[in-house]
Amino acid sequence: MIDLHSHVLFDIDDGPETLYESMRLCEMGVEYGIDCITATSHLYHPDEIVSFLRRRNDRILRVREEIERRSLQLRLYPGAEVFVDDAIFHASHLDKVTLNGSRYLLIEFEFHGLSARRLIRYVDTVFEMGLVPIIAHPERYSYLQQDFGLVQFLTERGAFFQINADSLAGLTGFEEFDLAYRMVRHKAASFIATDAHSLLGRTNELLRMIRRFQPDISRESLDYMLYTAPSCVLANKDIPPIRRSEHRHRHDG
Ligand SMILES: [Fe+2]
Repeated sequence: MIDLHSHVLFDIDDGPETLYESMRLCEMGVEYGIDCITATSHLYHPDEIVSFLRRRNDRILRVREEIERRSLQLRLYPGAEVFVDDAIFHASHLDKVTLNGSRYLLIEFEFHGLSARRLIRYVDTVFEMGLVPIIAHPERYSYLQQDFGLVQFLTERGAFFQINADSLAGLTGFEEFDLAYRMVRHKAASFIATDAHSLLGRTNELLRMIRRFQPDISRESLDYMLYTAPSCVLANKDIPPIRRSEHRHRHDG
């Protein structure tokens, strides 16, 4: 499975502090079914892109070296989770922090109090840069929990959504589970990822979380969100629409 959103790199954001902890997260990922991780460390301000890239690329190299030394069956790709606020209106070079150099940009917003109008302007600004927004963990934003119509509006506008596995597993809170599950049911979610930060708390024990998902989420739907759609992102290809058959009951065959 491909984990498209992970804070696996050390000493760059609120993820692991040391190379040792990064490697423990890598090993945990492999143990729980992940064979590809996109390193999406936080970028909080567009002005910090140059120093961010210097540090991120160094950490990628060091973790990759260690993956090879330990013969781990794991591929590691570069990315970022870009915090978007009004600074985006003056931002440049965001194409340098896309997922594996593709046109897809993983973005996050403040968790409360963002108006629909502003959110739509942010998303449109990403499109105007020639990039395609993937909105991280929509189920965690209170203004989306209260407005499913806005989720559908953004989907129709061409934005994609990545939900967190622990939300869909019901490990966080009811509101988060409720929106994550509704989005999967309505084909509004294209990706499931761990957003792993540490060995405790938000981990990358993906298979363990999948076992807690609702049984009516089909195998085909999971394959789509954990392999097919993220593969297209990493290869910079169009993401195919979710087929109707992918929403059959898991036990319907
Ligand atoms: Fe994150």
